[in-house]
Amino acid sequence: MESLPVAGTQAVARHLLVVFGATGDLYRQKLAPALYHLVRQYQLTDRFLVLGVARSQMDDDGFRALSRAPVESVSLRQPQLGEPYTDPAEWCDEVLYFQSIGDGELGSFEALRNRIEQIEAAHGLEGNRIFYLALPPSALGPTVEALGASGLTHSPGWTRLVVEKPFGVDLESAVALNDILHGCFDEPQIYRIDHYLGKATVQNLLVFRLANPLFESVWNRDRIDNVQITVAEGVGIGDRAGYYDRSGALRDMVQNHLTQLLSLVGMEPPVSFDAEAIRDEKVKVLQSIRPISPDDVVLGQYAAGRVNGRRAAGYLDEKGVSTGSTTPTYAALRMFVDSWRWQGVPFYLRTGKRLGGRLTQIAVTFREPPVALFKSFERSRHQGNVLYFKLQPHEGFDLLFDVQKPSGSPQLDTRSLAFAYEEAFGILPDAYETLLYDVMTGDRTLFVRADEAEGAWRLYTPILEAGINPHSYEAGSWGPQEAERLLSPRGHEWTVRLSGNRGPRA
Ligand code: BG6
Repeated sequence: MESLPVAGTQAVARHLLVVFGATGDLYRQKLAPALYHLVRQYQLTDRFLVLGVARSQMDDDGFRALSRAPVESVSLRQPQLGEPYTDPAEWCDEVLYFQSIGDGELGSFEALRNRIEQIEAAHGLEGNRIFYLALPPSALGPTVEALGASGLTHSPGWTRLVVEKPFGVDLESAVALNDILHGCFDEPQIYRIDHYLGKATVQNLLVFRLANPLFESVWNRDRIDNVQITVAEGVGIGDRAGYYDRSGALRDMVQNHLTQLLSLVGMEPPVSFDAEAIRDEKVKVLQSIRPISPDDVVLGQYAAGRVNGRRAAGYLDEKGVSTGSTTPTYAALRMFVDSWRWQGVPFYLRTGKRLGGRLTQIAVTFREPPVALFKSFERSRHQGNVLYFKLQPHEGFDLLFDVQKPSGSPQLDTRSLAFAYEEAFGILPDAYETLLYDVMTGDRTLFVRADEAEGAWRLYTPILEAGINPHSYEAGSWGPQEAERLLSPRGHEWTVRLSGNRGPRA
């Protein structure tokens, strides 16, 4: 097994990371473990300090205590990473600070500025700052404006702003948010997060396509029949009804994560591996997508059922969901990229909560050979050539191909070539580790540019406004039957690769 390369500490200039929303779930579940892991993996001791900011009243010790459990989860997960901090509590005590922002008035932001300058002076930092807004959408704009008004957007060093998704709720709100951001920061200072871009297997999509001539040469309408992107979740909405009931599957997953996957599969080779060159090509994909008609969309909402053998309540019975809500928890779409490369090739996207399991896959189905030479063969199973990019839960890919089965009568069987990331490289970094490291080193490649965020909203806003009613589907199923109608006119079927050599359909 090879180990992941160790990045040099030199790439990370000493800085202060200011996390807004530091008592929230994202900080505890993702950011705190990722930061501690980065320190251990890449030897980032002394490279940064963290100032947690939230409305709650808390002192530094309270914040360190709150951070300890998430940070300890890392040391338990990867005990082999022993240095430089063997004791997570020691890291928390040395690196973490807290400042309450109270009601968010200007005075609180001025107090924050004083605290930042005081910490920087005490530790000899040169004023390099990252503001990470792990905040609900409604708080993004006001926080950025307050940063501007309190003078925090200017410092003796560099300043970077990290914004979590969702970035707006439609085209109009995304444009308005971009205007606020651009009023205080230049675009190159802004890092809009889509955590799917931090997943190692998502980054590999481009390398796989473009570094391997075998695939690069067939990546077009002449050889590819259709592309399917499935992001299925077994979980429901948990305790997020307040956010989710106003959002739904199109806003929560399709506009961002699935569209990013589509862009990476569909984009032209960039002129270089530079952030702007890559993002330019992704924007062109969005511009080439044919306007989506309501006929190309099927929405669903889960009803009660069983997931992994356990009873699951229906969406309407989840705590906090409004009575009679028509928020979709499932979306399936048929899309066309009207470019030279992809003319006529359907891209099918689907995502949903409370489906048959957690699975993210891209299935690229290649065209059949021109002559059906083997039609007299008995086909014990036939899928043709399908390349499955498996992004979750077991990262890797499977390439399906037909072979002749050694038996009395001529028989075709479908088998696969399989690659599993963890077998080759061990445990992959969490997406947030990758993204935080990139913000620290100033690499914008894996972040969403303003025109990209707006381009994606431009595609889906008409669908959101069309008021399409969701069909009901049973929790634990693969979504509403109606989603079949998107594929059936061309004789396609939804497909995912569950495990082993066979390619069951779901
Ligand atoms: C988030 C969505 O962006 O992505 C969640 O808000 C969803 O609703 C999550 O569950 C899925 O992420 P992952 O990495 O678990 O596939």
